[in-house]
Amino acid sequence: MTGMDEPPKKKHRPFWRKKYRRSTREGEHRPVLLAEVFAALNPKPGQTIVDATLGFAGHSLELLKAVSPDGLLIATDLDPGNIEPARLKLDATGGLFALHHSNFAGLPHILAAEGVECVDGLLADLGMSSMQVDDRTRGFSFMRDGPLDMRMDPTRGRTAADLLKTLPAEELAACFRDFGDEPQANAISAAIVEQRQVKPIERTKELRELIERAAPVLIDRTPKAPPERKQRLAPMARVFQALRILVNRELANLQQLLRVLPAVLKPGGTAVIISFHSGEDRLIKAAFRDGLRAGVYEAVAADPVRPAFEERRANPRSRSAKLRWCRKSL
Ligand SMILES: C[S@@+](CC[C@H](N)C(=O)[O-])C[C@H]1O[C@@H](n2cnc3c(N)ncnc32)[C@H](O)[C@@H]1O
Repeated sequence: MTGMDEPPKKKHRPFWRKKYRRSTREGEHRPVLLAEVFAALNPKPGQTIVDATLGFAGHSLELLKAVSPDGLLIATDLDPGNIEPARLKLDATGGLFALHHSNFAGLPHILAAEGVECVDGLLADLGMSSMQVDDRTRGFSFMRDGPLDMRMDPTRGRTAADLLKTLPAEELAACFRDFGDEPQANAISAAIVEQRQVKPIERTKELRELIERAAPVLIDRTPKAPPERKQRLAPMARVFQALRILVNRELANLQQLLRVLPAVLKPGGTAVIISFHSGEDRLIKAAFRDGLRAGVYEAVAADPVRPAFEERRANPRSRSAKLRWCRKSL
């Protein structure tokens, strides 16, 4: 055999490369921890389930199929743009569902509007969807230039640009520290206040460049340190996350959901909450623990459930997800 006739050598690839892509294609959607959500909620035909964070209806679609034909799915989302695409998806199942453009903090009102007193199960998959992050006009991502909006509900509330223009330096610093764990919070907020006297910060690119100037990163080159690019982007990731939480009052909304949860679950009903940062997880853990001690819940997740290796590989956005569940006492 000549060299030219030899069959091409097969490249060795680790097994996960063969099966999984490293990121989600545009337009494609993978609901996070779907199997784990089903294991905890165990939805059955005839039940009433709430999906408090409809998004692209990834979880909702599967939950609706599970409670059909005679069950009901009630879903809410702050983002009005999510409602009609989700309706099209869910319509195709022929199941019974009701969609609300509203904040899950007002869940008791939504249930009252549907004539439902309490439900068998509830899911909240917190944070923002990949569609929101990928849309540069929403201003959620420092990787894409766009207006600094960051409102999940663009029909109300103040934009991130507006808050950067008006909040005192101490409030901005507290936001970056408390919601983003940003060590250089004071330096960044001082730079914002100085900059806005010349020209307000209105675009994601402007904020990104300001953070790069105000919070230089000392690169850790020890063997176990994260890659240099990740270290350089870390202050941007922390500040953008903090601002998004502030703009959307995310922790206050979550606290309100946790407060009303015992009243909206039927005895024996289960709630599942997926969170993406430590501030949220702390609130959920504490509320579930307190409910267990008080006898409101008969069981709660002992530890957060994390995505398996395969899911983390296939969907990098799932990496920080933590699922906790609680079951209401009979
Ligand atoms: C991670 S996505 C949900 C994705 C969804 N589970 C799926 O599989 O398609 C979170 C969604 O929750 C919505 N959201 C965030 N906070 C909310 C709130 N307080 N009330 C209602 N919806 C909210 C966001 O607009 C976003 O669409």
